[in-house]
Amino acid sequence: MSSMLTLILPAAAVLALALIITNPSAKAVAQFAWNCFLKPIGHVGSDQKSALESFYKGQAKIYDTTRKKLLKGRHTMLSLSVSHLKKSKDIVWIDFGGGTGWNIEKMNEVVPITSFKEIHLVDLSPSLCEVAQNRFAARGWSNVHVHCIDATTFQLPNKETRADLITLSYSLSMIPSYYSMIDRICQLVHSDSIFAVVDFYVQSNATLNGKATSVGGVLLRHVNWLSRTFWRLWFEFDRVYLDSSRRDYLEYRFGTIKSLNMRNKSLGGIPYYIWIGCDKDRSQDFMYRLNALATESPYLAPSNASSDALANQEQIQIRSKGYEATVINMEHNLPYPSFYYQSEVWRIYYDAENPHYHQFNNQYIYAFTWEDPREDINLLNLGPSDVVLAITSAGDNILTYAAMENPPKRIHGVDLNPHQNHLMELKLASLRCLPFEDVWKIFGDGKHEDFMKILVTKLSPHLSSHALQFWIKNGKKYLDPKTKGLYDSGSTRWAIRIARWLFFALGLESDVKRLLKTQTIKEQLKVWNESIRPALFNPIFCKLILGNPVFLWKALGVPVNQANMIEGGILQYIVDTIDPLISRSLISDDNYFYHLCLTGSYSPKNCPDYITKKGYFNLAKRKGALDTIRLHTDTINDVSDRLAPGTLTVAIIMDHMDWFEPTGTLAVEEIQALNKSLAKGGRVMLRSSSKTPWYIKTFESQGFSCKSAATRFSGTSIDRVNMYASTWICTKLYNTAEKERSGSIKPLEL
Ligand SMILES: C[S@@+](CC[C@H](N)C(=O)[O-])C[C@H]1O[C@@H](n2cnc3c(N)ncnc32)[C@H](O)[C@@H]1O
Ligand SMILES: *[C@@H]1O[C@H](CO)[C@@H](O)[C@H](O)[C@H]1NC(C)=O
Ligand SMILES: *[C@@H]1O[C@H](CO)[C@@H](O)[C@H](O)[C@H]1NC(C)=O
Ligand SMILES: *[C@@H]1O[C@H](CO)[C@@H](O)[C@H](O)[C@H]1NC(C)=O
Ligand SMILES: *[C@@H]1O[C@H](CO)[C@@H](O)[C@H](O)[C@H]1NC(C)=O
Ligand SMILES: *[C@@H]1O[C@H](CO)[C@@H](O)[C@H](O)[C@H]1NC(C)=O
Repeated sequence: MSSMLTLILPAAAVLALALIITNPSAKAVAQFAWNCFLKPIGHVGSDQKSALESFYKGQAKIYDTTRKKLLKGRHTMLSLSVSHLKKSKDIVWIDFGGGTGWNIEKMNEVVPITSFKEIHLVDLSPSLCEVAQNRFAARGWSNVHVHCIDATTFQLPNKETRADLITLSYSLSMIPSYYSMIDRICQLVHSDSIFAVVDFYVQSNATLNGKATSVGGVLLRHVNWLSRTFWRLWFEFDRVYLDSSRRDYLEYRFGTIKSLNMRNKSLGGIPYYIWIGCDKDRSQDFMYRLNALATESPYLAPSNASSDALANQEQIQIRSKGYEATVINMEHNLPYPSFYYQSEVWRIYYDAENPHYHQFNNQYIYAFTWEDPREDINLLNLGPSDVVLAITSAGDNILTYAAMENPPKRIHGVDLNPHQNHLMELKLASLRCLPFEDVWKIFGDGKHEDFMKILVTKLSPHLSSHALQFWIKNGKKYLDPKTKGLYDSGSTRWAIRIARWLFFALGLESDVKRLLKTQTIKEQLKVWNESIRPALFNPIFCKLILGNPVFLWKALGVPVNQANMIEGGILQYIVDTIDPLISRSLISDDNYFYHLCLTGSYSPKNCPDYITKKGYFNLAKRKGALDTIRLHTDTINDVSDRLAPGTLTVAIIMDHMDWFEPTGTLAVEEIQALNKSLAKGGRVMLRSSSKTPWYIKTFESQGFSCKSAATRFSGTSIDRVNMYASTWICTKLYNTAEKERSGSIKPLEL
C-alpha cells in the first residue's frame, strides 16, 4: 500500500503541474489542488452530503475551469445522446449529478435549451447547486429546474411525465448506491428514452468473458493491471469509485446502443467511457430489428423475439451467430447484443472478441476496391432477381451494384476483417443522411474539415457501436484536411505512397502531371511512351523494387501463394498490366483506379459510381436502396453455411482463392460451402493472377461448369484495372433433386 502512495503523490504533483501549465488561472489550480489532494475529506462513514459539501464548497466557483480538461467527452456524450433521440421537440431531460450546470450550458450549443419542455438538474451538493441556479437565472432559462437532493430519491414533479433523455456525466462513479440510481432511472423512462453516461472506468478483459455478447464496447476496453490499480486508488481519495460493476450494471439493466472506450493522452490516459443505452425490451424497435435482419435465411434472425417462438424453432438446423448469441443472453437474463439495438439493419452480429480478428491490427487493408465493377455488371448481367454475395473490400463495388437502375434484390457483403465493414458502414451511413457535398468531401476528396462533428451529430445513429468506436478513434487522423486524406489509410496507402515516391525518385512528377492533363488517348500514349515508360520499366529498377516480394505484399497486397501463380515473371506481369491501359481509356477521365493511385483522390467525373451525382441519387434518394445490403464479418464459408441453401444466385469472390495453398483443403471447403448456398444455375465470378488457376479443376470436380470470361494477353486489357490475368465464371449445374450426375446435363447459358 505504501508503495502505491509513493506512486500517487508524485503523480498528484505532476497532474497539478500539468494543470498549472495548461490552465490560465494559477489560483484556480492551487484551490483545486488543495481541495483534491491535500485537504482531508469527511472521514469515512460521515454522510455523503456533508462529505460532498466539504469537498466541493471551497471549489464550487472554480469548478468549471478546473474540470474542463479533466472531465473529457462530456460534449461528445451530449451530442451523441441527442442524435439518438427519436423526437426533436418537447424533450424532458434529467441530468443527474449535474453539478454546476456546465452540461446544460454546453447542450445549448447542440440544441437550444429553450426548446426543451423541462430540464431537471439533480445534485446533492448545495454549493454546486447554487452556482447552477445562478447560471440559469442569468440566462433566463425558466424551464430548467435545480433539485438539491440525493439523486436516488428523485421523482419528476408531475408523476405522469416520463423523461425522454437522462444523462449522468462523471456522477455514476460518485453515487454510492449506484444500483438504486440505475433502478430509479428504469422507473423514470419510457420505451423510446435515451440514457447516456460518460465516466471514468477501469476494467480487466477477464471480467468481460461471458457477457461479451451483450455489450457493444469490448474493443479497447481492457485496462492493464498497473493502470487499473493506480487509477482506482487515486480516485478513491476523492470518493470516486471506478469499479467495473457500475458500468456492468448499466449494461445489464439497459440495452446498449453505443459503448465507446476512450483515453486521452493529455491527461495521462485515464480510461473513460461514453455509453448510450435504451430500454432493453424496447419492443417495437426490437421486432423491427429482428425482422429486418432476416436475409434469405429465416434463421439468420428469428422472426420473433419471445422465448416461446425461439423454442418452437427447435427443429430448425441452421442458426445464425446472432441468433445463438441472443439465446445465450436470454438464458443469462442479459439484454440482447448491441447489434439488435441499432437503427440500421446492415451490420449482421459478430463477436468482436473472436481472436480471428486480431490478425488485422485494428486496421483495414483496402481503402478502395481494386476491381472493375463495370465488367462484373456486364459479364453477370445482374438484375432485380439476383441475390449476390460479394467480398466487401472497401465496398465500392457493392455500392456500384446497389446503385444500378435495376439492382439485385439482396447484396451480402462478406469480409473477415471487421474494419473493412466499418469503412463500408461509414459509406452507407453517409449515403443515408448526408447531402451530396459532404459525401463527396469525405470519399471523393478524402478530407472533411468537420468530419468529427458530422460523425457524432449525424452519422452516429446509423453506425454500429463498433464502427463508431473505430471512426471516433481514427476519423481525425484519416480525414482532417491537414492530413493526406482517407486514401492515405489502410495498407493500400503504401500503393499510393510508393507511387508518389517512385515518380519523385525517377524525376517523373511533372510527366505524371502532364499525363493527367492529356485530352486524347494519342497524347496520353505519347507522354507514356516517351517519358514515363522508359524510366519506369528500366530493368535494374524493376528488379530491385517491382519484383520484390516485400513490395508486392506491402504495396499491392499480393501474397506469396498468389505471386507463385503468376506466369512469365513479375516484371512481364506488370508491363502486361499497365501498358495496355494507356490505350484503353484516359486515366484522367475514365480510370478512377489509377487516377486515385497517382493523385490520392478522385475527380467528380472519374470516381466510383456511388459518389457520382447519379449514383448518389440512386442510393440516397431511392427508397430501400441501401436496405438491400447486409454486412457479414466472417469467412465466406461461415456465411454460406448459414444462408438458406439454394438462395444465392451470384457470388463474386474476387481474387481471394489465389491466396490459398494449392495442396490445402481451404479451396474445396469454400467451393462446397458456396455450392450449398447457391441456387441451381447460380454463378461464381472470380479473378486470378493466373490465366488458368489451379482451383478451376476443383470447381469442376464439385459440379460446376467453368468458363473463362476474359483472359489477358500481352498488349490487351480486359478491364480498367487489368491487374488480373483472367476472369472466370463457374456455374452450379445440379440441384439435390437431380440425381443424374452424368455428363449429360448441359451447362446453363451464362
Ligand atoms: C464529478 S461531478 C460532475 C458534475 C457534472 N455532471 C459535470 O460533468 O461537470 C459529480 C457530481 O455528482 C454529484 N453527486 C454525487 N453523489 C450524488 C448523489 N447521491 N445525488 C446527487 N448528486 C450526487 C456531486 O455533487 C457532483 O456534483
Ligand atoms: C486481456 O488483454 C491482454 C492484453 O491485451 C491479453 O494479453 C490477454 O490475453 C487478455 N485476456 C483475456 C482473458 O482476454
Ligand atoms: C484530448 O484532449 C485534448 C484537449 O482537450 C483535445 O484537443 C484532443 O482532441 C483530445 N484527444 C482525443 C484523442 O480525444
Ligand atoms: C410473435 O409473438 C407474438 C406475441 O409475443 C405472437 O402474437 C405472434 O404470433 C408471434 N409471431 C410469430 C411469427 O411467431
Ligand atoms: C508507343 O510505343 C509502342 C511500342 O512500344 C508503339 O507500338 C506505339 O505506336 C507507340 N505510340 C506512340 C503514340 O508513340
Ligand atoms: C452441390 O449442392 C447440391 C445441392 O444444391 C448437392 O446436391 C450436390 O451434391 C452438391 N455437390 C457436391 C459436389 O457436394
